[in-house]
Amino acid sequence: MLKLNWKCTDISVLGQEHGLNIEQEFNDYAGKISDIIKSLNQRKDKPGECLQWMNLGYNEETVWYVKEFASMVEGRFDNILVLGIGGSVLGGIAVTEALLKPYWNMLSAEQRNNLPKIFFLDNIDPDTINGLLAVLDLRKTLVNVITKSGDTAETMSQFMVVKNLMQEALGDDYRKNIVATTDKKMGILRQLADQEGYKIFYVPDDIGGRFSVFSSVGLVPFALVGLDIDKIINGIKDIDLELKNTDIHQNIAAQFALIHYLMDTKKGKRSTVLMPYSSRLKYIPDWYVQLIAESLGKKYNRAGEIVNAGLTPIKAYGATAQHTKLQLFNEGPNDKVVTFIRVGEFDTTLDIPKIFEYTGIGYLGGKTVNDLLRAEMYSTKVSLVDNQRPSLSITIDKIDEYNIAQLLYMLEVQTAISGELYNINAFDQPGVEQVKDYMYALMGRAGYEGSATSLREKMGIMS
Ligand code: PA5
Repeated sequence: MLKLNWKCTDISVLGQEHGLNIEQEFNDYAGKISDIIKSLNQRKDKPGECLQWMNLGYNEETVWYVKEFASMVEGRFDNILVLGIGGSVLGGIAVTEALLKPYWNMLSAEQRNNLPKIFFLDNIDPDTINGLLAVLDLRKTLVNVITKSGDTAETMSQFMVVKNLMQEALGDDYRKNIVATTDKKMGILRQLADQEGYKIFYVPDDIGGRFSVFSSVGLVPFALVGLDIDKIINGIKDIDLELKNTDIHQNIAAQFALIHYLMDTKKGKRSTVLMPYSSRLKYIPDWYVQLIAESLGKKYNRAGEIVNAGLTPIKAYGATAQHTKLQLFNEGPNDKVVTFIRVGEFDTTLDIPKIFEYTGIGYLGGKTVNDLLRAEMYSTKVSLVDNQRPSLSITIDKIDEYNIAQLLYMLEVQTAISGELYNINAFDQPGVEQVKDYMYALMGRAGYEGSATSLREKMGIMS
């Protein structure tokens, strides 16, 4: 089970100006938190509430279909190529990087147990796309194109490029190398998949991209590279039960959300840093950045008042960020809450040889890299306290399917609770839609001609 330690946000450690009286706050907010948790659980099955992700721990049917598909294509492909952007791929990248053996794509087929390599195209940089397509053998590649809306320009342009190349390489058989993950009813990808006969997985209704990692969006690529999706689902199911607890003293998602909310509203800490001490976890902060930024960054509250709510999420990972961002965290504006993620036990131990004993680095010899990383983390934590900077610590026992699923799910639940504390809709993204519309206008999509004219005028001012 995940553990959360909030001691370094408490008044007893940080002092009056920057610390919170945590026990007092938990007691004061106990009723409100209990109401929020009850309300989320009551609303979760209501259409339009966008809370269906809270049911993904119980989605046995999809898990069965995904496993069935993965076993059907087992051994047929050398590569999986995932196409998508934002919530459609950030979870996939974070989880595969955490759970596959390090440098997976560089391992031999034997070292990968004959499982495929995995590549993500998560942007539309022409050089990167051309570069990857120049080295991938598309005849041996299964392409998983993921877009809930089915018409996101970045994803669909990637797909159009890749589809043509696949058809050139495979003729009509190219269809067998495509899996579409999209909405059940709407969207262009849905229509194309029907027309062309691609295998389809559905993104269930009422699950936004940034909350979709445990739907078919993530489960398909995870199963294709051999991750144990039963363990993932068990992890979510177990922690979901814990996080249904309406008592804030027993619910770490509620604690995490409330501490950030109070640090923002009472102590001016408007940034949230996620800093795992593990390279394997280094893309989890990217996923967290999107989750927090799109969910909590809102102009209006639910009463229609302008609030411009939001925490600014910052990604980091230790020990590397000690040599990049820590100077800012320690001595720059005291406006951040840093959350450390500590891994209880690494898969391996790395001894530092006892050499150079006669030099200033001799003290390292005979220790382990594991010891060093732990010492780095505690040193950073203490330095933040010295500078009266608040921090939280999440501990996961080890990096495996069960624990990683719990970590991500807890962060999703805390985001939903935060949305309720700020009284904003954490599940829409009007600021993103606005830019999508501008881009459609500029690229000449039918129906957007009017906005194109006014947009070009505004662009004239900028040039
Ligand atoms: O979280 C979100 O909703 C967004 O980041 C979407 O995932 C992103 O815009 C991609 O959308 P789609 O899956 O419709 O292509």
